[in-house]
Amino acid sequence: MTKYGSFPGTRPRRLRTTPVMRRMVAETRLHPADLILPAFIREGVSEPVPVAAMPGVVQHTRDSLKKAALEAVEAGISAIMLFGVPEEAKKDAQGTVGTDPDGILQVALRDVRAEVGDDLLVMSDLCLDEFTDHGHCGVLDAEGRVDNDATLERYAEMAQVQADAGAHVVGPSGMMDGQIGVVRDALDQIGREDVAILAYTAKYSSAFYGPFREAVASSLQGDRKTYQQDPANWRESLRELELDLTEGADMVMVKPAGPYLDVLARVADAVDVPVAAYQISGEYSMIEAAAEKGWIDRDRAIFESLTGIKRAGARNILTYWATEVAQKLRRSPFTS
Ligand code: PBG
Repeated sequence: MTKYGSFPGTRPRRLRTTPVMRRMVAETRLHPADLILPAFIREGVSEPVPVAAMPGVVQHTRDSLKKAALEAVEAGISAIMLFGVPEEAKKDAQGTVGTDPDGILQVALRDVRAEVGDDLLVMSDLCLDEFTDHGHCGVLDAEGRVDNDATLERYAEMAQVQADAGAHVVGPSGMMDGQIGVVRDALDQIGREDVAILAYTAKYSSAFYGPFREAVASSLQGDRKTYQQDPANWRESLRELELDLTEGADMVMVKPAGPYLDVLARVADAVDVPVAAYQISGEYSMIEAAAEKGWIDRDRAIFESLTGIKRAGARNILTYWATEVAQKLRRSPFTS
């Protein structure tokens, strides 16, 4: 006892004294194998095109994409998720190039598979927005509304074409009701039980997709609020989760990640399948922009944001920093 009362009997600070102590007791560690790299392939360009709103990210040429995939393998990350950017003139109301075996996404899937074989999982975004001239994730009815069931038929064809082109995993991201069941069926019907589905289970209608729309040269007028979820809700994510699992999802995803960590934690608590989170374009650009202004320590902010996503329950994280972070982790495994 002192004249100030008793000293603390328990001192949590003891476990924070040195880097090696903090490292030993850390509950969460990032590993290169956690990471998935989203990448854009643009048709008809001879040089990679920088995405202005995402410093450090490019729309790849076929060659630069192959190089990026090899780099990803060397860095030890698990997967690459491909998004296709077709020539503007090839977009139409049905997103026809999305199911053309020679469409840019299919070409890229074949290129990357030929380059990496099975050393890297090759994933494909399964959605129409990159391919439609109106920019919506589905086809429209006579009134201009996104037609759920007509879109499902397009997704079924896309799944088959993407599997044929070499996708190990397809990622339906359009938030149509019933999409997982239809995609599973379509794959099974052509004997591709081996192709896995990473379901975008909880996908919110988010302002943070802004920079991505530049990255895929999206022509979207209006918004996606009739199919993507309302940011105010978490319970409906559990409903979406139940549906996706019943329909055959192998893995589930929450997107965006940072502003939805509560949803991620609840989803991770509720299931035993692998849970992924997508740290999206806006989350990336905010850190890059603040760092560029000297307002934030870039590397610490990147590692903290990813550690937070993993701590909340993500087994895997899609992040545009995947290769860079994996390289840093290999040099110094305890960067985080
Ligand atoms: C839809 C899709 C989007 C993203 C991934 N898949 C855009 C959207 O729903 O508007 C966003 C990814 C990001 O912002 O990084 N195909």
